Amino acid sequence: MEARIRALAAHAPEKTLSNEELTKFVDTTDEWIFSHTGIRSRHIAAADESASDIALPACRKVLESTGTSAEEIDLILVATSTPDYISMPSTACIIQHQLGANAAGAMDITAACSGFVYALEIARNFVVAGSARNVLVVATEVYSKIVNWKDRNTCVLFGDGAGAALVSPADDSRRGLLHHAFLRSDGSGAESLVRLHGGTRRPTNADSTEADLMLSMDGRKVYNFAVRAVNETILEVLEREKLTIDDIDYFVPHQANVRIIEAAAKRLGAPVERFYMNMERYANTSASSIPLAIGEMQDRGLLKPGMKLITIGFGAGLTYGGGLIEW
Ligand code: ACO
Repeated sequence: MEARIRALAAHAPEKTLSNEELTKFVDTTDEWIFSHTGIRSRHIAAADESASDIALPACRKVLESTGTSAEEIDLILVATSTPDYISMPSTACIIQHQLGANAAGAMDITAACSGFVYALEIARNFVVAGSARNVLVVATEVYSKIVNWKDRNTCVLFGDGAGAALVSPADDSRRGLLHHAFLRSDGSGAESLVRLHGGTRRPTNADSTEADLMLSMDGRKVYNFAVRAVNETILEVLEREKLTIDDIDYFVPHQANVRIIEAAAKRLGAPVERFYMNMERYANTSASSIPLAIGEMQDRGLLKPGMKLITIGFGAGLTYGGGLIEW
């Protein structure tokens, strides 16, 4: 048995925040942000919108487009590092209830910006093993609610968005075929990208500052890791699949920063035009950035049947990985 993506959809909150608008309350400039990251604007969830809220439109779109009823979903996997609630219950349970997916198991996957790649591989394995026919893979992130808006080193980098994919057996068609993904972790970099307080290592206490509770990052360390992770992932996937860079139609990397992608492409000797990038309009949406990119590629008519894509995720953990999809 093989598994495929039957449909994929993305959704971003309506409100946008441009770099220019950011300069009104953060000590930064459009020039600095764009030249260092390739970001011009991002979507921001409304005050009353949570990770599950912004994911539901993408989930419903995927079910509608495949004529799948919510009761036919066997498993819901939600990749998020900005869940509705801290640690429990899972955001997947909230989405399961909202969809009325009454025959589904539900759990969250914590792999930060690699979350969609990880969740797709878990879904593929459930389907290949024959223990699920319809797995709804969701990525949803509301980083606007976990960034420290007083820290210009981080708050300018992130945005909100969601994506969903339905993974099912490839017995009717091989469109969207998922190949065995490559997954890795380097926990030695655990605190390079972290929310320090609020977990069991440093429970929130009277000394916890707002900054301790929000995301903090060693930007240089993450940058160096990210370039290495993109390279290693692509080379590993190519080797496993016995393919070369020329065989790949599009590389779909996590949309963290245009300079990370350009540096990795240069090191690989791969044409940067084949790396799809849309961080200019969405910023870094963590686990959601790959489905947001693929959703946009679909809408723009860039994806033709049989095209070969390699996804590349990297992020907090540190986690990384990727896989081949035959569109
Ligand atoms: N506006 C203006 N100046 C800024 C801003 C800003 N928004 N942010 C930082 N600066 C300043 C700093 O204060 C510092 O000033 P100083 O030198 O006077 O102290 C200076 O810019 C830092 O400059 P550089 O070291 O040249 O910055 P760098 O080129 O390293 O770029 C960046 C910083 C963009 C954060 C880079 O390190 C990076 O992209 N890192 C990876 C970050 C990332 O992608 N993280 C997420 C990946 S994983 C995930 O998605 C969760």
